[in-house]
Amino acid sequence: MNFELNFPQLLRNELFINGEWIAGNDRFPVYNPADQQVIGEIPNASLQQIESAIRSAHMAGENWATRSGMERKKILSKWHDLVIEHEKDLARILTIEQGKPFREALGEIRYGASFIDWFASEAVRNYGDVLMPTRENNRMHVIKQPIGTVAAITPWNFPNAMITRKIAPALAAGCSVVIKPSEETPFSALALAYLAQQAGIPNGVLNVIFNIEPWKVGEVFTTHPLIRKLSFTGSTVVGKWLAERASANLKKISLELGGNAPFIIFEDADLDRAVHGVISSKFRNNGQTCICTNRILVHSLVEREFIHKLKRKMTELTVGSGLERGVDLGPLINIKALGKISEIQKDALEKGATIEQGGQLKKGLFYEPTLLSGGNRSMKCFTDEIFGPIAVTYPFNSDEEALNLANSTDYGLAAYFYTRSIERVHRISEGLEFGMVGVNTAVISDATAPFGGIKNSGQGREGSRYGMDEYLSVKLVALELHPVE
Ligand code: SIN
Repeated sequence: MNFELNFPQLLRNELFINGEWIAGNDRFPVYNPADQQVIGEIPNASLQQIESAIRSAHMAGENWATRSGMERKKILSKWHDLVIEHEKDLARILTIEQGKPFREALGEIRYGASFIDWFASEAVRNYGDVLMPTRENNRMHVIKQPIGTVAAITPWNFPNAMITRKIAPALAAGCSVVIKPSEETPFSALALAYLAQQAGIPNGVLNVIFNIEPWKVGEVFTTHPLIRKLSFTGSTVVGKWLAERASANLKKISLELGGNAPFIIFEDADLDRAVHGVISSKFRNNGQTCICTNRILVHSLVEREFIHKLKRKMTELTVGSGLERGVDLGPLINIKALGKISEIQKDALEKGATIEQGGQLKKGLFYEPTLLSGGNRSMKCFTDEIFGPIAVTYPFNSDEEALNLANSTDYGLAAYFYTRSIERVHRISEGLEFGMVGVNTAVISDATAPFGGIKNSGQGREGSRYGMDEYLSVKLVALELHPVE
């Protein structure tokens, strides 16, 4: 397929190992979810190539770790500037392989670039500590050193930003990286790697591989003696599988896994703002983000008014190919995703939910933005991550009931609530068992903020100064002075 880029060199279809672009005969197809046509082919990395990527990263990492923070900052800043310079081409690639509307894809490129920018600045702020020892003549200080070679596995729903959110802090900290991005969306990853190379990231410091049997890569990443850290974004099932293996080998691990975000609308909420919040968090990326609203809990006093307002706004949403102008919702990623949401809707209807809006497949992988009311705890839409454009409301009658419903999940990534009461702002945000809470806002993602969850949603944080710590090890240096005679 011709991607019609202004800068066609961005479109790579090779592996990237030790600064070399490696083509291979064993290739797999990549599809455009908007028309399900093949848009290109990518090499399937052999076990030897994965091994070579890890060894290259290890060797290149030794030198990278000794570079000054200022030097790393300059290279990362150059990478950031190149990403911004090519943002339109990168967004076009992203839309073609992932499906999200071009405007949203452009937003993701800028969001992704913001992590490079933020961590470029953090590269020069790797502070340690000077301690006050309890023993006379002792001195103690703490330094933070790069953890070593990092392995990363990233998902298809944010083919750009989930990569930069892992790679930028790793590189800023002085680590080298082998990354296995999603096989559904390889072209965004390779374009980023190409720009990293142009920016001066040394050969071997960043390596990109793919394999259509991803568990094979997971097996290598979690057992290889040269890998010191694994960062994974994806499903809870896979995250637990990786964690089991990684912990058997005592590798440091960060996991950003599934979510089941409640969105609570109290009776004193500004309903128009709440509707705006639900639209932006439920339908972002066609409902395919881990922090998408999954359960709308609405006080029964305002339930009907809220549903009426939400339905009106939902009729304004346009579904279509991401390259068409004015489109708000693109296709689902693949047929499996479509099967999952159809099953979730069927289950809810069988258990008593009502369709307020939508509920139909339009064509191909395009699903209508859908609103169901009358949800209850027995439904799959309450317990499972929907990951599609189906919104479900659940009524409640007290703060206690709302909190109980919200926390009745094994997940703990993001939660949102809308209220005008300062009392509730504190009590509810403290009572919600989630890693991130949005109060009167559904926009919580930011390079400066710690992103991550608790319970089955994972461990570790990305973005912010906490995100840098994931790639550093803390070392104590203790010394004893000669006593003064
Ligand atoms: C995700 O789906 O995990 C990413 C969402 C975000 O970074 O805003």
